[in-house]
Amino acid sequence: MQKYDYLIVGAGLFGCVFAHEATKQGKKCLVVDKRTHVGGNVYCENIDGINVHKYGAHIFHTNDKAIWDYVNQFAEFNNYINSPISLSKGKLYNLPFNMNTFYQLWGTKTPEEAKTIIESQIKQFGVKTPKNLEEQALSLIGKDVYETLIKEYTEKQWGKKATDLPSFIIKRLPVRYTFNNNYFNDTYQGIPIGGYNKIIDGLLKDIDVKTNVDFFEEKEELSALANKIVYTGKIDEFYNYKFGNLEYRSLRFENIRLDTDNYQGNAVVNYNDATVPYTRIIEHKHFEFGKQKHTVITKEFSEKWTQEKEAYYPINNDDNQNKYQQYRALSIQEDNIIFGGRLAEYKYYDMHQIIASALQKSKQELS
Ligand code: FDA
Repeated sequence: MQKYDYLIVGAGLFGCVFAHEATKQGKKCLVVDKRTHVGGNVYCENIDGINVHKYGAHIFHTNDKAIWDYVNQFAEFNNYINSPISLSKGKLYNLPFNMNTFYQLWGTKTPEEAKTIIESQIKQFGVKTPKNLEEQALSLIGKDVYETLIKEYTEKQWGKKATDLPSFIIKRLPVRYTFNNNYFNDTYQGIPIGGYNKIIDGLLKDIDVKTNVDFFEEKEELSALANKIVYTGKIDEFYNYKFGNLEYRSLRFENIRLDTDNYQGNAVVNYNDATVPYTRIIEHKHFEFGKQKHTVITKEFSEKWTQEKEAYYPINNDDNQNKYQQYRALSIQEDNIIFGGRLAEYKYYDMHQIIASALQKSKQELS
């Protein structure tokens, strides 16, 4: 018997926003997720009173006032500003590349001094049509910034030499000639006080939810429960990988609780050197200005992806894009299935973008 209007596969931000909007319009939804919890990748695990971003650091930022107001319905946000630090060859540098970084690199004190060095290094390199990521970076920012802060970090991140990576990975390298360590340029930024679970709980209020349910293990029974399906899992899995696997880069997280109140003085510290196996350490309490006597840090390792691992970053080469287009062609033929979210669209989305996409798809569907 069809008990629900929508079966929503995946309790990440996309699924939760869609479910919330549909419920507001009087529709009945069932949300299922194969994980033991809701929230998808924004889920926070409470470890000893600290909200640990279990699937990687999440900082909310947007220029869109409507999206900012939307998330603020569910949680109050603090005024956290992301200002990561990078450790390279024993020295700390501010990110994104700005006047502080240039002072730390060269001792330059004015924008003109820094600009002169960068421009002369770009000119010295002299390549106009870069063939790979290394050449792209050298032609955008010059040798010193590239070798100190980009090369080894990027190689760890992608598990490949910069000369074997395509140039399109780096489209632009934001350079600021001001003393401004705010990583994002957006008008609105912060962390929900009490963690992202507050937003998810608000979105899912009064909605039926089942965790530990893999859609593919109960596909027929679950599908029979609803008129339509909103699918936010992997699109290649939905079609039983008939055109082959879509590839990802994976991550591994190692959480450590420490009896110190402040391990690194910042939420995000990047480790540039190839000799350090992880790419960054996150100290979660700093996202919420925590005053605990202890701390929890997470070492983030970038890893080759295999089917059993979590899929994090899509690998957007031609081969994967061609496969995705084949899956997409099938998906748009489906009458009763709506595909949405980062896994179904094989696309990296920031949180504000995924919320905008879910709002747009739900509006289109429900109007
Ligand atoms: P999400 O992956 O969250 O949800 C999909 C859900 O579907 C999962 O819970 C999964 O278990 C479930 N599912 C899949 N298959 C299923 C099946 N067969 N049956 C049942 N359930 C199934 N953004 C930002 O704005 N600021 C930031 O700082 C960051 N940081 C960041 C760090 C890292 C490491 C990554 C990878 C990503 C970010 N993001 C980010 C992006 C952010 O994580 C992203 O926008 C949202 O989590 C996407 O939400 P979705 O609902 O699309 O997917």
